[in-house]
Amino acid sequence: MFEIVKKQVLSPSIKLFEVKAPRVAQKAEPGQFFMLRVDEKGERIPLTIANFDREAGTITTIVQEIGHTSQRMGNMEEGQEFLDVAGPLGEATEIKNYGTVMCVGGGLGIAPVYPIARALKEAGNEVISVIGARNKDLLYWEDEMDAISSELHAATDDGSFGHKGFVTDIVKQVLENKKVDAIWAIGPMPMMRAVAETTRPFGVKTIVSLNPIMVDGTGMCGACRVEVGGETKFACVDGPEFDGHLVDFDLALRRLAMYKDDEKRALASGSCGRDDSCQK
Ligand code: FES
Repeated sequence: MFEIVKKQVLSPSIKLFEVKAPRVAQKAEPGQFFMLRVDEKGERIPLTIANFDREAGTITTIVQEIGHTSQRMGNMEEGQEFLDVAGPLGEATEIKNYGTVMCVGGGLGIAPVYPIARALKEAGNEVISVIGARNKDLLYWEDEMDAISSELHAATDDGSFGHKGFVTDIVKQVLENKKVDAIWAIGPMPMMRAVAETTRPFGVKTIVSLNPIMVDGTGMCGACRVEVGGETKFACVDGPEFDGHLVDFDLALRRLAMYKDDEKRALASGSCGRDDSCQK
């Protein structure tokens, strides 16, 4: 069992969980994720590792209550335990000194981009960060991101904090004024596609972290398959990071949409609504 040692409400629907998972914390690297199961009847869901503390033996993740399992997690408190925490999974980010890098986090994507930005800074990069959300209430970790960035920009759709508009507006502005050597963009699939399309004319390598449906997280089931550069890849073992200019986002978005109705039914019925192999 894996104890919740800290729960923090970042916004009414976004919660931070620090979970005791020493073996995962020992091996975790930026860019990786883990699979979590609340209890025996629960589905397994992939969650990004937003932070890890090897000494304390804890990992941190941030969850938005948009699905059945994330709502159940949102109702859990410090001291309660999750049944399964399996990981770390996926390939770690390639951290090295690229020169000047930009780290773009949209919504829940701010959490996984944070350890990447921090590690890139520690490797000697100049880090320009861009965070965005629909509104100020859905933004978090401005101070944490600021502390590891030489420049921090923020955007909200409604203008309630920072630039009124999209992160892509800022990405374009920065690229027009500065040479950037590599970009990481993590967030909702449409946002990652938009960032990749914005950076394409500038020819700057753009890494995205894909979040397709996952079932086992170990390359066995094929649920997370994506097309990258014309080749089939499994996001859980070949990714989750891929070259954003090569990802077939149309296909990835179509596959994500296939499961939306299942999730709505699960939320309405208050149960998973599917068998144990089903996922969000
Ligand atoms: Fe099953 Fe990736 S989640 S192959």
